[in-house]
Amino acid sequence: MKKQTLLHLHKRKRACLLLPAIVFCSSLAGAALAQDAGEQLFLNNCAECHQRDGKGIPNIYPALAGSEVVDGSGVDVALVMLIGRGEMPSFAGSIADEDMASIINYVRNAWGNNGEEISAQRIEKLR
Ligand code: HEC
Repeated sequence: MKKQTLLHLHKRKRACLLLPAIVFCSSLAGAALAQDAGEQLFLNNCAECHQRDGKGIPNIYPALAGSEVVDGSGVDVALVMLIGRGEMPSFAGSIADEDMASIINYVRNAWGNNGEEISAQRIEKLR
């Protein structure tokens, strides 16, 4: 009898440990998917100039890896994308808020960069 109760408790404990693990893993997978989308959008829209590795081309296209602007704030990156800068065209008309947020979150967390996330709502307000 006592043995059964213990077994029962043991099973419940395992179930409790498993559930948060599943929630945690699926949120990790969600974040990974968002990062993949950001990476793909970066390759399609930005890598031509800033290069796949984010290092740009010296004296022509600035590096985004280790860039002060990129490291500084997601809003600054959004403003460069919305307004354009020098030889860089504005992406205001061609990239939607959600995609812009994905790209910013990608470049701010790729190649050793480490920035907090920006939301699509924040981009919408900057337009
Ligand atoms: C046609 C080439 C080109 C494309 C495409 C391009 N950029 Fe740029 N980008 C530039 C140039 C040139 C500059 C420097 C402009 C200046 O300061 O005169 C720049 C500057 C920047 C800066 C400021 C960097 C710093 O340290 O000053 C950021 C951030 C940036 N680009 C992000 C992006 C993102 C994100 C994309 C894709 C959505 C993108 N760029 C697409 C050419 C490009």
